[in-house]
Amino acid sequence: MSEPTITPRGPSFTTGYQTHRNLPPLAGLCSFTEADRAGLSVEESVRRLKRHHYALRRIHGILTARITAEPIYELKMAWSHQAWLCAEQVGVLRSRVGEMREPPLGLDKVPHAGLALAFDELQAAPRDLLLMGLYEVVVPGLLESMARHATDTHPLADQPTVRLLRMARLDLEDLHRYGRKAVSSLVSGEARAAAQPALQVLNQALAAAGGLDGGTAEASRPALPPPLHSARPWQYDPRPQRDERFPDPYNMGVNAEVFLYDPRQPAEAKVLMMYYKRLREIDVPEMMAGIIAQTPDKPWGYYRDMSRQLWDEARHAMMGEVGFASAGIDWPSKVAVNFTWSLGLNTQLAPKERHAVLYFIEQGLMPKTGKRHEWETAIMAGSPLAATFQDFDWADEVLHARIGRDWYVSDMPSPHEAVAYGDACWSKVLMNWEHWRSEGHTRHANWWTGAYAQYCERHGQTQDPSVAQFAVSYEAIRADLKDLAQASG
Ligand SMILES: [Fe+2]
Ligand SMILES: [Fe+2]
Ligand SMILES: [Fe+2]
Repeated sequence: MSEPTITPRGPSFTTGYQTHRNLPPLAGLCSFTEADRAGLSVEESVRRLKRHHYALRRIHGILTARITAEPIYELKMAWSHQAWLCAEQVGVLRSRVGEMREPPLGLDKVPHAGLALAFDELQAAPRDLLLMGLYEVVVPGLLESMARHATDTHPLADQPTVRLLRMARLDLEDLHRYGRKAVSSLVSGEARAAAQPALQVLNQALAAAGGLDGGTAEASRPALPPPLHSARPWQYDPRPQRDERFPDPYNMGVNAEVFLYDPRQPAEAKVLMMYYKRLREIDVPEMMAGIIAQTPDKPWGYYRDMSRQLWDEARHAMMGEVGFASAGIDWPSKVAVNFTWSLGLNTQLAPKERHAVLYFIEQGLMPKTGKRHEWETAIMAGSPLAATFQDFDWADEVLHARIGRDWYVSDMPSPHEAVAYGDACWSKVLMNWEHWRSEGHTRHANWWTGAYAQYCERHGQTQDPSVAQFAVSYEAIRADLKDLAQASG
């Protein structure tokens, strides 16, 4: 339906208008002069919201799906964060569209083939091109189109949209800031030159769509370019990759849980083992990314909650990294952080089975021996840093148990069957300890002795023999995996 033409009539007298005792006008939103103008129609504001929504949704999907196979640890962490920011903003945009006389919402419709092509190209792009395309083209473009939307729409009539755009831009500025630094750290001059044809395709696809917000007149839009990287359909790569700071990713030589639950071991050393357990949580984003990427057609709340949980797990990993840095342990050379859990689940289980395992393990963290024990251990050790981390790690895991109930248990016949199914799925994952050793993937070396020795040396302490000699691996306690969930948490 085309919009009716409005013929303006008569002069305006707002310049002479006064508020009571000079109070800020219009709840502080804007002046009367700024309010005394036509803004966008509801229809046009919704049209732009849908464009922003599509862009953020695609960025969320692209970043999430790349976490697993991206080797660089810092990028895994940053993308976990950024995907969650996008998931939050997508949720807000969807609610706002729903408030604007919109049913049916049509939020799953692709607004323009050019936009679809631009994001398909980003999705299939090699890393350097993704970094340039996302952080130098798409994110700044989205910031501009959101700023334009906020300026064009009426500050009073469409205030909820103006506020939403302000919040979304704050989050997008975080992406932009990080992304520009990532480009300057990682992308060489040659890579930039080599990426020009692909960037040309991306820019032309966006221009064919009339820009991200579709603001360019039809007549001045170029034709849709042929696809380049997206000519072959993109596929999620489930195999986790790590960078050179993870040289022994199959190592299951140190059983963290056996040490942690041994009452004879001192709390101070247990804090180091908890830092290891936290850093090892990188495997949870690697695994959850696949669940999200391979589970289509859920309500947006599913993706928002799962992305939040994925981000929490990434934060837990970084807490472990901070812990090691603070304790003076050079983790890349002293600690073998493995990926056996995400590798096993991603390559052996279907998405729903993986979710079942995640739920099974996480609800096992709730009893007294789980997260509370870790927090109490940190307090006992007199480590305020570890206590802070374990306190929030515990709170996050309680949230994750709720997310599991909302999106996994609710899909099962009963809570009991949900747990039993998770247990059964976890039991069928082959953690091939001996095979990995005989095939030369790892020697399952006991890294703990060296890490603990470095800690004692840097803190001027004499080694406690019972700590230094701890040598229980994951081989011997295979049968107990169920009781001592050896990964995640
Ligand atoms: Fe969790
Ligand atoms: Fe966790
Ligand atoms: Fe955790």
